[in-house]
Amino acid sequence: MATFLIIGADRGIGLAICRQLAARGEAVVAACLGGGEAYDGSAVEVLPDIDVTSGAAVARMAEALAARGGRIDCLIHVAGVLGLDALGNLDYDDIRRQIEINTIGPLRAVEAVLPHLAADAKVGIVTSRVGSLADNGTGRMYAYRVSKAGANMVALNLHHDLSKRGIAVAALHPGMVATDLTKDIPGDFQYISPDEAAEGLIRRMDALTLETSGRFWHANGEALPW
Ligand SMILES: NC(=O)c1ccc[n+]([C@@H]2O[C@H](COP(=O)([O-])OP(=O)(O)OC[C@H]3O[C@@H](n4cnc5c(N)ncnc54)[C@H](OP(=O)(O)O)[C@@H]3O)[C@@H](O)[C@H]2O)c1
Repeated sequence: MATFLIIGADRGIGLAICRQLAARGEAVVAACLGGGEAYDGSAVEVLPDIDVTSGAAVARMAEALAARGGRIDCLIHVAGVLGLDALGNLDYDDIRRQIEINTIGPLRAVEAVLPHLAADAKVGIVTSRVGSLADNGTGRMYAYRVSKAGANMVALNLHHDLSKRGIAVAALHPGMVATDLTKDIPGDFQYISPDEAAEGLIRRMDALTLETSGRFWHANGEALPW
């Protein structure tokens, strides 16, 4: 049994990941922005009120990990937000909010829990394909694209620092997933379920090694360009 820390686990993809890992018998710690009521009655251990934009909150998360004395074998940072925007009507406060959560959030959270990662741990950061510079063929979504491109850089930088210590790091794209995050995106997309996305992401983390560290993976196994 390995110990997993899932950050941003209240709902959507994070919730599906926690449920699947718990079902296969792993020890799961779910860091939730809210109270984590979705886990009532389950074996998943909840760390409530963990806002990845708050230094105090991620410090509390680290203290809770120290108190449980358990080393984390696999950390998946899932927390994120998407705010739609359009050139000509950009809300710079909202751009800053998305960067604070999507880009700085994973860096702040991972840095805080570093002392509690196992020597051979794995770290996955759920970013997004729309954060790929090479894959941007349509534009739009300024704040989200910029914040997720930054998150990809966070993942790649963490790889350079952590792989030397034996910790493998991946940036992950879950696919187009039907969650609250995507419900207002206009257009016809073929959405997969949070469970399908979680299955693929868990498979990617299971397969992650120091040899495949420092890359950007689609949950379906495709290697994506930065
Ligand atoms: N859905 C997709 O198609 C898709 C595609 C590409 C990438 N992604 C990425 O996948 C991740 C999960 O998305 P999702 O579709 O599952 O969205 P979701 O259902 O909206 O879930 C987002 C999760 O992030 C949490 N969160 C938001 N702000 C936070 C903060 N400041 N601190 C801690 N947690 C915070 C939310 O907590 P609350 O529930 O308490 O608000 C929620 O649990 C995101 O990073 C997203 O960008 C999703």
